[in-house]
Amino acid sequence: MRSSDIRSTFFDFFQRRDHRVVPSSPLIPSDPTVLLTNAGMNQFKPYFLGETTPDHPRLMTVQKCARTSDIENVGRTTRHSTFFEMLGNFSFGDYFKAEAISWAWELFTRHYNLDPGRIWVTVYLDDDEAERLWRGVGVPPERIQRLGMEDNYWSMGVPGPCGPSSELHYDRGPSFGREGGPAADGERYQELWNLVFMQNLRGEGSGKSGYPILGELPARNIDTGLGLDRLAAILQDVDTVCGTDLLAPTFRLVQEMAGRGYPGRDGGDDSTSFRIVAEHSRSIAFLIADGVMPARDGRGYVLRRLMRRAVRHARKLGIDDLSLPALTSSVIDNLGGTWPELTRQNDLIRQVVTAEEEGFERTLRQGSQILESAIGRATTAISGRTAFDLHDTYGFPIDLTVDAARSAGLMVDENEFAELLEEQRRQAQQANRGRKGDAVARQDTYRRITAEHGPSTFVGYSAATAETKILSLVGPGGTLRTATKGDEIELILTRTPFYAESGGQVGDTGTLRTSGAALQVVDTQLGLDGLHVHTVRVLDGEVRPGDDAEATVDADRRAATARSHSATHVLHAMLRRLLGDHAAQRGSRVEPGRLRFDFAHFSPVDTAPVQTLVNDYLLDDPAVRVWEATRAEAEKAGALALFGERYGDDVRIVDIGDASRELCGGTHVGHGSQAGPVHIVGESSIGTGLRRVEALTGADALRHYDHQRDLLRELAELLHVRPDQAPGRLRQRLETLAETQRHLETMRRAELDAHAERLMSQAEPLPGGRLVAALVPGLTSADLRTVATTILDRLPGGIVILGTESSGKAALVAATRQGVQARDLLTGAAREVGGGAGGKGPIANAGGRHPENLPKAIRTAARDARALLA
Ligand code: SER
Repeated sequence: MRSSDIRSTFFDFFQRRDHRVVPSSPLIPSDPTVLLTNAGMNQFKPYFLGETTPDHPRLMTVQKCARTSDIENVGRTTRHSTFFEMLGNFSFGDYFKAEAISWAWELFTRHYNLDPGRIWVTVYLDDDEAERLWRGVGVPPERIQRLGMEDNYWSMGVPGPCGPSSELHYDRGPSFGREGGPAADGERYQELWNLVFMQNLRGEGSGKSGYPILGELPARNIDTGLGLDRLAAILQDVDTVCGTDLLAPTFRLVQEMAGRGYPGRDGGDDSTSFRIVAEHSRSIAFLIADGVMPARDGRGYVLRRLMRRAVRHARKLGIDDLSLPALTSSVIDNLGGTWPELTRQNDLIRQVVTAEEEGFERTLRQGSQILESAIGRATTAISGRTAFDLHDTYGFPIDLTVDAARSAGLMVDENEFAELLEEQRRQAQQANRGRKGDAVARQDTYRRITAEHGPSTFVGYSAATAETKILSLVGPGGTLRTATKGDEIELILTRTPFYAESGGQVGDTGTLRTSGAALQVVDTQLGLDGLHVHTVRVLDGEVRPGDDAEATVDADRRAATARSHSATHVLHAMLRRLLGDHAAQRGSRVEPGRLRFDFAHFSPVDTAPVQTLVNDYLLDDPAVRVWEATRAEAEKAGALALFGERYGDDVRIVDIGDASRELCGGTHVGHGSQAGPVHIVGESSIGTGLRRVEALTGADALRHYDHQRDLLRELAELLHVRPDQAPGRLRQRLETLAETQRHLETMRRAELDAHAERLMSQAEPLPGGRLVAALVPGLTSADLRTVATTILDRLPGGIVILGTESSGKAALVAATRQGVQARDLLTGAAREVGGGAGGKGPIANAGGRHPENLPKAIRTAARDARALLA
């Protein structure tokens, strides 16, 4: 059964049981508590927590998942993946264990036709009900095992929904491991499908089992996850996920590039490398397609690590050429039909992996040089600190350091290395835990508020003021009863005119007034989807939840922001018109009076025509129309949806004239001409294939012009001309200046020539050639060199030694014929002036702190030179 049939069989089966399909969410989650989407249920977390209700209580997905917590296992086993597609059926307060279990059994045994005699199940320690249900569908008691929290209790790894689970495993036979069921051997009894009975809420804690269960969720739910590549491996009868049709073309390419076949499951490290290169290539392509860029930390670091690991293993297989571009391209060819984002981001993926692989090569070369010099210095061992610096600063892998040291007969202090690494990990973890802890506590507070009162009502599209009520006050430790003058806190309103930062547009600011207090709103953010959180400063009086309030948005700032937002849409449209459709938005920042716009393009952009096009378009005063539609209608109407953004089923569309139509929740001007003028102040590269344009809008653009006019005026005054004559006059002045400099240069040359002439006339004839050795006051060391070479040109075979005092220091030059190391002539002299000599071949320099010793130094050098010429 091909993987496409596995997907459609799953969907058909659950559609017949009233499930609706929901698209996979992107790998970058909207939930700030997790780095990457790690399960099908991530996008449904608010439903499980009871914060919002889905349109339908039964859903199904095929979800893109990334997991790197057990990256060390990936490739070592035949079943672990850092990226996989997970098929899932979900119930939100609807059906529960009985249906989930009997449907899983039915789908496995009657539709995927798995041999019932090879299916084993595990249940959570005390889950008698699940065991009874499994026996009811026909699983014999000896193939049901009970396991603890570690294996049969599921959470996202952070506080949130969780619950006991029950897993279906498939016995792959004795060649994969020992007898004894999943409890004994996970490689032989491969886990395929996890049924989670989502009913509890987990608290803070680390590890798979070290966390408290805080209580029950509002409803009992089902969350299942069936690993597509593992099931495909069974149904296609291959012994590694790399052999399935999901990865086979890439796996074959690895073998072609290596010039030899996969040695099979038992090939040890070599087999591991084949699997890692193929498996990681898939993750890399998917992560980049969803907007992850390589970086030093966060999810960008996860991606970088995957790329480096893939490249290292490719090199181990003897693949020395650039490998990631071809490998990821085979992933795109194979899976781009199912996952069109791969095809859409084809160029970006190629550019990013090429740059990263080339960068890694440089890193390795640089690291090798540092390592070589460390090896050169070492007597018995390379210190752990050096190995750590190589690893940390240069990304140079420890196993390469150890290998290289070993070949030079040296050890590496691996204990010290491990201690330093551990120390760094501890520090990072602490910082991370603090950050995560705060984010989690705040999210909990927001969730409680939303569960009690529902999401905020935003009235700011049509109004800049609103009569409203204060719902809650939030401080670092949770909700507050009151806040008084001087406090800076967060505040939630029943209805709000303040736009919360999203889609790149900054949050509104303004004021709040109650009968007893005056407050300044300094920022507005979304605490959760739909919950407006205002950061406020109490200027006067006291405020409490329940107080009536009058909310007023800073209208000038809002207008200046709207101008930038509309200008951003037009800029986007005009860039695409000029450069092509690939120049799509990758990010933006919309602020009062200025904007930043990031887009895909591979070379510098001449911004002059872009700016003209944008301003001309705006001056035509195009109508701005805001309308609502379903996502499908909007797509049909050609509205641009932005990369990485999430939209609901009902969307808001903003049209500006005929050329710009985007899905957008932001605030805009009423008419195009209100958005101008737009003045582009910068264009730069911000990464492979990514450019950034920065621009000023409205009054800020005008102020910028004023400032430039003032500069021009000042320049004109300095030149004593009218501003329009300034460039001509300046050019003239620069020409005169250049001529004067040339003249000075000629005079200087003549002066130096005179010095040379005079010195030559004093040359001392010796059997091997003539010697000039003299102190020449008033020259720079560069002058010394010029004079010395001039003399030598005319006294071939001779030796010139000159010295001068320059800026309170002694400077010496020696010039001699080819084949003589001039530096040797200055060694003794340099010592006299308290310094050292440098230079290679017939010209050398020396300097020192004791110019008073110059005469003696010259005598010393002259003596050495005489010995040579004698
Ligand atoms: N959330 C569970 C898992 O990821 C089941 O979908 O395994």
